[in-house]
Amino acid sequence: MDAKDQMDLKAQEIIRQTRAKISGLDEYSKDMMFREARSFNGWTDKPVSAAQLRDIYDLMKLCPTSSNACPIRIKFVCSDNAKKILEPILFEPNRAKTMQAPAVAIFGNDYAFYDHDVFLTPHRPGAISKRMTENPELIPDWAMRNGTLQSAYFILAVRAVGLDAGPMQGLNKKAADDVYWAGTKVKTNFICSIGHGDETTVFKKLPRFDFAEVCEIL
Ligand SMILES: Cc1cc2nc3c(=O)[nH]c(=O)nc-3n(C[C@H](O)[C@H](O)[C@H](O)COP(=O)(O)O)c2cc1C
Repeated sequence: MDAKDQMDLKAQEIIRQTRAKISGLDEYSKDMMFREARSFNGWTDKPVSAAQLRDIYDLMKLCPTSSNACPIRIKFVCSDNAKKILEPILFEPNRAKTMQAPAVAIFGNDYAFYDHDVFLTPHRPGAISKRMTENPELIPDWAMRNGTLQSAYFILAVRAVGLDAGPMQGLNKKAADDVYWAGTKVKTNFICSIGHGDETTVFKKLPRFDFAEVCEIL
């Protein structure tokens, strides 16, 4: 048996052991992650540490993307100086609440994601870059699909570490590209404030479609 097969077997054992310990989230955890979690529009003074931002990233990075493309790139805006640079880029309705947040993640999608395929897909080195080079029309689709997936995983990871998220797309993305991603092929997707949400800033919950309205079991 070669080394690769040994690694597959080890991975299978790890998931087997995890499933033996837990078969699903408890009801409180589902409340925290989904049912009662909200998008916040204001923040308490309680800070967010660099260690917490790392914890969020370290959970998010493990979630799936197509061929492990992992196109998300993130700038965490935390200092007063960094916030001053972000402020004029935000659309006015998002400005005050974003400046108040302890941390703001700028999500970018790297349209050169395939440059890293030797590292990210070592079992098929070069295969994704060959495919993207031969079919460049696939690149924006892959970058946006997988970068947005990772951004969504990020929001759930924020909740999983006991913090709150406030996602926003209301900013000048071209200006953000120039500030945060100059000289790269990264394009701004959206941003997300992170902190301890101030409950007084939560709006009434908006309706969602019921299962039968948008789902069909075939
Ligand atoms: C990608 C994305 C972009 C958003 N953009 C904005 C925005 O620019 N400004 C804003 O106030 N809220 C924004 N929101 C917040 C949504 O309005 C909010 O998440 C949605 O109404 C659900 O709220 P809930 O999580 O409290 O149920 C955005 C959310 C997402 C996921």
